[in-house]
Amino acid sequence: MLLGLLDRLLSALCDQWTWWWEASSTKDELPRALLTVSILILVVFWYRWTFMKSSKGIGSHPVPPGPRGLPIVRYLPFLDTNLHEQFTELAHQYGPIYKLWLGQKLCVVMNSPSLAKERTMRKVFVRDTMSNSSLEASYNLRKDEVLKTIREVHSKIGTPMDIAEITFLTQMNVIMNMVWGSTIDIHKAHGVRTEFRGVAREMERLRIWVDRILDSIIDAQTKMSMVERAEAFKIKGKEDFLQLLLALKEQEDTGISFTLEQIKALLIDIVVGGTDTSATMVEWAMAEIMHNPEIMKKVQEELSDVIGTNNIVEESHLPKLHYLDALIKETFRLHPALPLLVPKRTDRPCVVGGYTIPPKNTRVFLNVWAMHRDPEVWDSPLEFKPKRFLGEASKCDYNGNNFQYLPFGSGRRICAGLPLAEKMVMYFLASLLHSFNWRSPEGEELDLSETFGIVMKKKTPLVAIPTQRLSSLELYA
Ligand code: HEM
Repeated sequence: MLLGLLDRLLSALCDQWTWWWEASSTKDELPRALLTVSILILVVFWYRWTFMKSSKGIGSHPVPPGPRGLPIVRYLPFLDTNLHEQFTELAHQYGPIYKLWLGQKLCVVMNSPSLAKERTMRKVFVRDTMSNSSLEASYNLRKDEVLKTIREVHSKIGTPMDIAEITFLTQMNVIMNMVWGSTIDIHKAHGVRTEFRGVAREMERLRIWVDRILDSIIDAQTKMSMVERAEAFKIKGKEDFLQLLLALKEQEDTGISFTLEQIKALLIDIVVGGTDTSATMVEWAMAEIMHNPEIMKKVQEELSDVIGTNNIVEESHLPKLHYLDALIKETFRLHPALPLLVPKRTDRPCVVGGYTIPPKNTRVFLNVWAMHRDPEVWDSPLEFKPKRFLGEASKCDYNGNNFQYLPFGSGRRICAGLPLAEKMVMYFLASLLHSFNWRSPEGEELDLSETFGIVMKKKTPLVAIPTQRLSSLELYA
């Protein structure tokens, strides 16, 4: 197909430019031939110059190898929809670190855990909202949202439910409440994740979507009088993140200056980064659990032992749920939410794995999906085995210090919402599994295939039917 396209392109060019070589008089032939040769020489020099520039390494360290692709577009036309798999296959050909030219953009892909530690990445951290004390203070808010969802699921018992959709709404409300103090009405929000998913595909539409919500909220907050602010503070017990940013923006003497656009951009990162990732991870965990009845039995036994069947889950129970913790870690290993993390840009040349990463505008991809399935590191890497994270291995955490396991990234660019994500995924999963039994709709086969995207989702949404698990109706009120 590509060859056909080139063929057509060449013949179209030839048709347009026949006047060039069909010289009208022998007098024109020499200058035209000279001009043609000069242009060809220039093109060859330009191509060699850009190639040489990108091939210059530091000292004895060459730049990584990689496929050359076509002139100008380079490797762009060969990109596949399943980038994480294609990147893994290329690693078999060029080694654990290689380069790709996508048009004029140079990308470097790292596929091996041993390389990641050499280049830690930058991060932006939402310190105030994610600190231990702040998360402790906002526990009631999370509890309210989780209980609201449990009530909602209970009211629809026996009917099929989209697991990612209910998680998405709960997580969206938790984040919105923490960040700017408002929520979506769960009863009116049916289909919002699908809308958001669609919107998330196009960054411009997403910006408009969040801008619309934020504009009215920022407007209301900036118009609040001192008395109204003090009243709101008294009700909530603390300022939300947006109030904090707006207050900092107004205090010019602090040396910190934000524009409204910067505040909005940060809030968009938080909403996008926090909702779909958590929803997708809960969906993958539930899919693996429903696919393995033995595992479902073990998790629910642990929940009954630790929490008791006359009680609801509280965050204080979470540190005692060792099997559930191992199960979630295994889910993050096999289905990392961001299989290539967020591409990083280099600001100066550096050496990784014996190769020079050229400085300007190089995008670096870390293929975490491949690292988490590396047979040299993981025993039976394609099997879902929570028990690999029990015992000594339970100490493996999400902080990015273990370079074989990076579900939240590492270094300065590690996930800014990690402390909240860790709590919410576990708390929500524990609540769904403790309050309900789950089964697939009659005749439906559970599909575990994935589809590549910034967030790697299940190809088909997980739909499951809940039935009441706890005997007392009061536990659902
Ligand atoms: C299970 C849930 C989550 C997963 C698996 C996840 C994973 C990640 C990963 C892998 C990155 C990129 C790190 C890198 O490139 O090195 C990231 C970035 C980010 N995450 Fe999360 N995340 C989750 C939940 C959250 C939550 C709840 C929030 C906010 C409340 C959040 C906010 C962010 C932000 C703002 C960034 C960008 C950080 C930066 O560019 O410096 N995430 N996340």
